[in-house]
Amino acid sequence: MYKKIKETSEFLKKSFNNESIHSAIILGSGMGGFENKFEKIYSLDYSDIPNFIKPSVEGHSGNLSLVKFGVKTTAIFSGRAHYYEGYDINDIVLPTRVIADLGIKNLIITNAAGGVSKNYQPGDIVNIKDHINLAGNNPLMGENIDELGPRFPDMTNVYNKELRDLAKKISDGLFEYKDGIYAWFTGPTYETPAEVNFAKIIGADLVGMSTVPEAIVANHAGINVAAFSLVTNLAAGISKEPLSHEEVIEIANLSKNKLQNFMEKFLTEINLTK
Ligand code: HPA
Repeated sequence: MYKKIKETSEFLKKSFNNESIHSAIILGSGMGGFENKFEKIYSLDYSDIPNFIKPSVEGHSGNLSLVKFGVKTTAIFSGRAHYYEGYDINDIVLPTRVIADLGIKNLIITNAAGGVSKNYQPGDIVNIKDHINLAGNNPLMGENIDELGPRFPDMTNVYNKELRDLAKKISDGLFEYKDGIYAWFTGPTYETPAEVNFAKIIGADLVGMSTVPEAIVANHAGINVAAFSLVTNLAAGISKEPLSHEEVIEIANLSKNKLQNFMEKFLTEINLTK
């Protein structure tokens, strides 16, 4: 696996002419097309990058581009593969391991999620402050890659406090700042009402099918992580209506501008100050 990571990061270094990259962002539903608002220094299709999986889910384009925010460069990963697509967990987190190998210090992850907390409404942006792994898997299982991080990584501060404070500051005047705990389910089914109730009882505010594997791997590698959920629906049983992917996409599209405006400011600040 380490060989695969090296192969991919060497390819990217060459393709990007050794451009120094300060931050990376992995875009989930609702952030698709974000990269097209900016002048790209470089742009690559996932299908041209060795060992990358081309995402198959609508709203995920599968493109890696470099864009300048502030004085430094951000790598925008538009689209991600999900565990529910049936891939090996190691292939899901390969882009994150490559981010680590490239020496990128900050990772921002976005996703669409179901709202469990009664404080959330569809369209809310929630800053993830911690997570609960309910997927029955962990991307660090198997032989540890000592070059990337320790065998038994501490998970006390997966979601960097300074970045959460920065998010709070930047949200001021744009939307009401909310934070919460994200529970990772494998999907592809949405949760049952009983599962949502269970998640609520054990402390989750959000349920979703991504982000946690990437956050674990980034934390292992000592990267500062910030993650944001776009609440596209109230979770099953809290919502009176059955859930549908179309509804998720519709709400994601409606809230796109709010999230994208925030993210442009957030990335600019990170690249100026850290
Ligand atoms: N559950 C899991 N994942 C999701 C949801 C949900 O309710 N909404 C958007 N992604």
